[in-house]
Amino acid sequence: MAETTQGKSAAGRKVRKAVLPAAGLGTRFLPATKAQPKEMLTVVDKPQIQYVVEECAVSGIEHIIIVTGKGKNAIEDHFDYSPTLERFLEERGKIEQAAMVRKISDMVQVSYTRQKEPLGLGHAVLVARDLVGDEPFAVLLGDVLIPGPNPATKQLIDVYAATGVGAIAVEEVPKERTHLYGVIDGESAPQPPFGARLLRIRDVVEKPKPENAPSNLAITGRYVLPPQIFDCLARTKPGAGNEIQLTDALRILAQEDGLWAYIYDGASYDAGDKLGFLKATVEIALQNPEFGGEFREYLKGLNF
Ligand code: G1P
Repeated sequence: MAETTQGKSAAGRKVRKAVLPAAGLGTRFLPATKAQPKEMLTVVDKPQIQYVVEECAVSGIEHIIIVTGKGKNAIEDHFDYSPTLERFLEERGKIEQAAMVRKISDMVQVSYTRQKEPLGLGHAVLVARDLVGDEPFAVLLGDVLIPGPNPATKQLIDVYAATGVGAIAVEEVPKERTHLYGVIDGESAPQPPFGARLLRIRDVVEKPKPENAPSNLAITGRYVLPPQIFDCLARTKPGAGNEIQLTDALRILAQEDGLWAYIYDGASYDAGDKLGFLKATVEIALQNPEFGGEFREYLKGLNF
């Protein structure tokens, strides 16, 4: 593993930036996504992308780069100031609501860039190259929600800070679902303080059939990567679905610079899928301090 050759000081390992690919057309969620970005679909009381931006803020990210495309203006508006709305709320004494609206825009700095053609997740990350520059960064997929007090992104940042080697979050999935994910071939590489959660990646395969999957550890949609990934992406040819896959560039990175898989502590929802979205909505609503208890009673009273 190349941790000794990275030559980065602790300060050079600070992960300040995150890339959020948000250019996809959201075809899994039609018709809801015909005229609105999938990232703006609401889970309980917030658009999905706000959960992901909040995960970044709690993880210490200072600057988020959102890679958008056509029809995604609502995302920019959501993270911009809304003077008219804030004044309206303040004039009516709704000070807390006004502050909540303002906080959404003040969480972190956000920049936008566009992916002009739908050439794949890897291409979307490559589009952010200039804005990221020569420093490590996180990637968070907007339709994967991982609620909880200890964000997966923060866990990966801790691995990178300790080792200077990129790390991607993985979790176990049933064997029959491997065709929906990138799947890793890893060898156990326990080390304090991460213990058996840490694996050294030997290979990664994008969306393998169950019989070809090297394991049942799937890539979750959270990554912390060194800037070398951009060179790997630039060398990556179209793969699964004829798209430039981030997973294929990760394979090159793993071979050339090393890469950790980290079995993160937490649970994810694939909110880009209708059933996953419903599960996320129900479970996040049950935790809501305002109406979670009442909602639980309501669910208990349903006759199935
Ligand atoms: C993407 C990645 C895949 C990863 C998945 C997580 O696939 O390509 O490696 O496992 O996200 O949700 P997508 O779901 O965008 O097809």
